[in-house]
Amino acid sequence: MTEIELLVDFYKNTERQGPGSTSDTLKALDFIDLNKDQKLKIADIGCGSGGQTITLAQNLAGQITAVDLFPEFLEELNVRSADLGFQKRIKTLEKSMEDLQFDNEELDIIWSEGAIYNMGFEAGIKKWRDYLKIGGYLAVSEITWTTDSRPGEIEEFWNSEYPEIDTASNKIKILKENGYSLVGYFVLSQNSWIDNYYKPLEKRFSAFLERHNNSEMAKNIVEEQKEEIRKYHKYKDYYSYGFYIAKKI
Ligand SMILES: C[S@@+](CC[C@H](N)C(=O)[O-])C[C@H]1O[C@@H](n2cnc3c(N)ncnc32)[C@H](O)[C@@H]1O
Repeated sequence: MTEIELLVDFYKNTERQGPGSTSDTLKALDFIDLNKDQKLKIADIGCGSGGQTITLAQNLAGQITAVDLFPEFLEELNVRSADLGFQKRIKTLEKSMEDLQFDNEELDIIWSEGAIYNMGFEAGIKKWRDYLKIGGYLAVSEITWTTDSRPGEIEEFWNSEYPEIDTASNKIKILKENGYSLVGYFVLSQNSWIDNYYKPLEKRFSAFLERHNNSEMAKNIVEEQKEEIRKYHKYKDYYSYGFYIAKKI
């Protein structure tokens, strides 16, 4: 198995593949001033197994295209959405977020929780803007510094993991410079990291290692996760996910 295949296996059958919660999705949705009973066209990019996609389907009347690079996650979403009767309203699409083929100004809402970093925040918001109607909304969550300075250990760690990590004011500046008007911003709570994401992951470590005969690669994945969790507990006052909601103007 390649490392990517192992990572997909690690995250398979989890509620979420990143920090977040139903209440965060609903809070972000609240900032969107569109008639939610109307047949809106929505894309959920980097949807994973679709924790937030289901919430969107439950609270918006439109048609959702749920995009992810990995079919394993999309299959899980298809099963969940069929169980809930959403199979006609949630269509899954196996595609890279960098290579989407929506028409210009086709979409009312672009949603992306904890995924835009895969192509980079600035590249993502620039490219996806084309697909949004004027007056359409972008809602993305993204790792964000919550203070102006921070201890070297955590600064170095996140800068090497994701050099685009920045403060909310700088992220918002990027949005404003690229044809968006900010309508809302909030920081995910620590529960969205710990209870909804890290605790369920920690419970999976031993079964994952057993499944892969304690291979070096599997052990490395678990050790890296443990280290990320340790750093989160130590430095959680310095960073979180910021949820940015902005309108295309
Ligand atoms: C941190 S997870 C977030 C998943 C989900 N939105 C959530 O919050 O639970 C990031 C997701 O992005 C997907 N992904 C990674 N690279 C991608 C790409 N180039 N195009 C589309 N999806 C990608 C991963 O498969 C994964 O499902």
